[in-house]
Amino acid sequence: MTSTPALRLEEVTARNVEAATDIRVRPEQEDAVAPVMKSLAEAYVHPGVAWPRLIVDGDRPVGFLMAFFDIDWNEDGTLFRSGLWRLNIAAAEQGRGYGRFAVESVAAELRRRGAKEMYVTWQPGPNGPENFYLGLGFRPNGETSGGQTVGVLELS
Ligand SMILES: CC(C)(COP(=O)(O)OP(=O)(O)OC[C@H]1O[C@@H](n2cnc3c(N)ncnc32)[C@H](O)[C@@H]1OP(=O)(O)O)[C@@H](O)C(=O)NCCC(=O)NCCS
Repeated sequence: MTSTPALRLEEVTARNVEAATDIRVRPEQEDAVAPVMKSLAEAYVHPGVAWPRLIVDGDRPVGFLMAFFDIDWNEDGTLFRSGLWRLNIAAAEQGRGYGRFAVESVAAELRRRGAKEMYVTWQPGPNGPENFYLGLGFRPNGETSGGQTVGVLELS
């Protein structure tokens, strides 16, 4: 018999969708990430590319992430990338390792799918997650996307 790990990712379903849309970051962080509701709408129109998941610890929903797989980066069919699209850790749950768990979980899923790199974009500025991503090993690759810094992590 296998037991459910306390800290885990759950698929977003009818059972937990309200818990997902209730996740809120701190007010001063709201410019750094879209609300979960918007991410779920995007997931609906990008099936197969978007991978939304609720982050749950025990019986507590603590955050939300959305990965992307093989997205047509320049929308011209020449470059396909995978990575982390959204990450929202609930205001009261930040600083407890859930963001790191989210990044490591997506990295593991990407490795499983054969990816060699993991991309993320972030909003520069004092309330943005730049230092969080730099601390986890992402490096700016010199590009920007929609005003955001593009960072990449080599997956070994
Ligand atoms: C950025 C965010 C995802 C971090 O999540 P978190 O659960 O608080 O982060 P963790 O507790 O897992 O922290 C992991 C490490 O990063 C560090 N860290 C976290 N946020 C940081 C920040 N803003 N600046 C510098 N370091 C940070 C932690 O100190 C920790 O370091 P340690 O392991 O050496 O102690 C969270 O603050 C958040 O949801 N922010 C708002 C939305 C956002 O910006 N999302 C990203 C959009 S791309």
